Amino acid sequence: MFIGTEKLSHIYMPGTPYATKALEEVSFSLDRGDFALLIGPSGSGKSTLIQHLNGLLKPSGGKVIFEDRELGSDSVDLLALRKRIGLVFQMAEEHFFSETVYDEVAFAPRNLGLDEVKVEQNVKLALERVGLEWEVVHDRHPFQLSSGQKRLVALAAVLSLQPEVLILDEPTAGLDPGGRLHLFALLKSLNQQAGLTVLVCTHHMDEVADLADSVLVLNRGKVIMSGPAHDIFARRQEFNKLGLSLPEVTEVMHCLAAAGLPARTDIYSLEQARAEINSLKRRLEK
Ligand SMILES: Nc1ncnc2c1ncn2[C@@H]1O[C@H](COP(=O)(O)OP(=O)(O)O)[C@@H](O)[C@H]1O
Ligand SMILES: [Mg+2]
Repeated sequence: MFIGTEKLSHIYMPGTPYATKALEEVSFSLDRGDFALLIGPSGSGKSTLIQHLNGLLKPSGGKVIFEDRELGSDSVDLLALRKRIGLVFQMAEEHFFSETVYDEVAFAPRNLGLDEVKVEQNVKLALERVGLEWEVVHDRHPFQLSSGQKRLVALAAVLSLQPEVLILDEPTAGLDPGGRLHLFALLKSLNQQAGLTVLVCTHHMDEVADLADSVLVLNRGKVIMSGPAHDIFARRQEFNKLGLSLPEVTEVMHCLAAAGLPARTDIYSLEQARAEINSLKRRLEK
C-alpha cells in the first residue's frame, strides 16, 4: 500500500464526558499517482482522517500506512514524513504569519535547515508550480493578494518541500467558480505532470468530479462508499439521503432517465453529458 489506513479509529477527549468518536474502523488505500476525492457531510470525520495521514493526530485504534509501513512505528521518522506528505489546511491563509509571500513560502524549507540559496530555489519553483509570478508576488504582503492568490500561496508553501503526496482540506472553500476551476485544474496538472498523489476533500463536485480516479465517502466516521468515481457517482439515492450533492450534469442525466429517456446516468462531466445527449438524439431519431 502506498498510503492509506487500516481500521483507523479516533476518539477526541477519550475518557471524558465529552468523548467523541470521530472515526470508526476506516480503511482505504491509494496507489502512487492516484487522484482521489474525500467527501461526506459536515462532521463526518474528513478533517480528522486527513490529519492522521501525516501524523498530526494519533489513532485511538488501527493504523495509518505509508509505503507499507505503519506511521508511528519507530522506523518512520515523522519529520521526514511531513516532508513527503504535504497537507494544506482548510482556510490555510488564516494562519499566514509572514510579512512577505517569499517568507511565507520559505518557512518550511528554512525550518528544515536548508541554506538560503536552496530555500530560494525551492520558493521559486513552488511559486512557478502554482502559476504565481515571482516578480509580481514575492515581496508583497500575503494579505494584499486576492483570495484565490492567497490559496495558491498556501499551496506553494506546502509544495516548497517538494512532497510526493498532496492532501488538501476543502481547498476551494470561499472561492468563486473561476477560482475553483483554476485550483482543481492546477491540482490535476500537479497529479499528471509532476506525478503527485492527490487526496482532496471537497463539497464542490461540479468542477472536480471528472478529474478524480476514486472517491471515498464518509458518514458519521465510517466509510460508506469507496471505489472508482464512475461507480460512486451513479449511486444518486444514497447521495441524496446523505444530503450530498452530485455534479449538476449527473442530476440532469438522472432527470432525463426519470422522464423515460434511455439516457446513461453515470455521467459526471459536461463533456460526457454532451456526448451522451448527442448519442441519445441519434438513437431517438432512428
Ligand atoms: N478538536 C476536536 N475536539 C473534539 N471533537 C472534535 C474535534 N475536531 C472534530 N471533532 C468532532 O469530530 C467529528 C468529526 O469532525 P471533523 O473531522 O472535523 O469532520 P468534517 O471535517 O467531516 O466536517 C465531529 O463530531 C466533530 O465535532
Ligand atoms: Mg472538515
